[in-house]
Amino acid sequence: MNSTKIKNILLEVDSSEIKRIFKEAKAVKQTTLGHDVYLRGLIELSNICTKDCFYCGIRKSNRSVNRYLMTKDEIITSAMFAFEKGFGSIVLQSGERDDENFIAFIENIIEEINYLTSRQLRITLSLGEQTTETYKRWFNSGAHRYLLRIETSNESLYNKIHPTEHSYSNRVNCLSALKEIGYQLGTGVMIGLPFQTIDDLVNDILFFKNMDIDMIGMGPFFEHSQTPLFGQPVDIANSPSQLLELSLKMIAATRISLPKINIAATTALQALNPFGREKGINAGANVVMPNVTLTQYRKDYLLYEDRPCVNDLADDCFDCVIKRIEMTGQKVALFSNGDSLNFLTKNNQLL
Ligand code: 5AD
Ligand code: FES
Repeated sequence: MNSTKIKNILLEVDSSEIKRIFKEAKAVKQTTLGHDVYLRGLIELSNICTKDCFYCGIRKSNRSVNRYLMTKDEIITSAMFAFEKGFGSIVLQSGERDDENFIAFIENIIEEINYLTSRQLRITLSLGEQTTETYKRWFNSGAHRYLLRIETSNESLYNKIHPTEHSYSNRVNCLSALKEIGYQLGTGVMIGLPFQTIDDLVNDILFFKNMDIDMIGMGPFFEHSQTPLFGQPVDIANSPSQLLELSLKMIAATRISLPKINIAATTALQALNPFGREKGINAGANVVMPNVTLTQYRKDYLLYEDRPCVNDLADDCFDCVIKRIEMTGQKVALFSNGDSLNFLTKNNQLL
C-alpha cells in the first residue's frame, strides 16, 4: 500500500467505511496467519530508569515513583507461571539501565529460564538502548526477540519528546544492530502525541516497512501529570473515542501494508475502552500481552496513569484474556511460540 492509501485510511471519517477497513484488515490477517492469536506474558521487572523521556511516568526525574527491582526468584516465578499456562513467549521489560550488574543479571535470568523450560519459552527483551556488545551477550544467552519502539519516525518530533542527550540516530542504529545480530525485531510508536501529524503516522508505517520489522506494538499516548508533556495540546485526536479510532486505523493500515508481521493489541488500547484489545484484534492485530508481573509491583510501573489491571492477579488476567479473545471469533494459540511469519520467511525457516 502506498502512502496516499495509508493516509486515506487514517483520515477516513465515514463509519461504515471505517468498519469495512477493519473487516478487510482482519480478513488479511486471517488469510495470511489464520485464526490464531498469540499470548506474550509481560514481566515488568524494574521501574528503575536512567533516562528521562518527556512522556514517561517512570522517567528518572519523577521523584514520586517508588522504585523497585524484582528479585531473580520473583522473575523466574512469573516466567514459569506464563510457561505453565501455555504462553509461547514472555517479554522482560524494564526501565533502561546499562550497568554491568544489570547486564549480567539479565544474562543470568535468560539462561535460567531457558534451562528450566528446555528452551520451549521464547524470551523477548524490551530493555531499551544498549551497546551492540550487550545485545550480542543477551542473544548468545538465549533471548531471540527484541522490542524497541522508535516512538515516532519523525526525527524532529522525536527530539521534541526527549531530552537533548537522547538521540534518534542512536535509536535507529540500535534497531539495525538488533536485526544484524539476528533478533526477531519489534518496534512501534505512540499515537496522538503532542505536535504529531497524520503524515507522521503515515511515515511511521513506511518506516516499519523500510526497516523490515517483524513485530509491532503501538498504542495511544496518555499524558502523565508528572512529566513535561503534561498539558500539551494534541492536534490529531480530541477525545478518547477519536484516539481509539485513530489507533485502530493505524493497526488496520499496518496490517494491510504488512500482512505477515505480528501486531499487538496493546494494554493502552484497553485503557481507552474496556474492549479496546478486542477491537484491536478485530482491526487486524494477532498478539495480546497479558501482564504476569506480581501484582504488588504493578502500581509502581505506571508509564501512564489510570492503567488497567493494576490490581489484578496474573491468573485473573489469564482467564479474562482467553474469554475476551474468543469473543472476537479467534483462537488463543496456547503452547505455540508464535514466531513472526515475516521473520520465518526471510530466514527460510518455514518447512
Ligand atoms: N503513554 C503511552 N505510552 C507510553 N509509553 C511510555 N510512556 C507512555 C505514555 N505516557 C510507551 C512507550 C514505550 C513503551 C514501553 O511504553 O512507547 O516504548
Ligand atoms: Fe525510561 Fe524513557 S524514561 S526509557
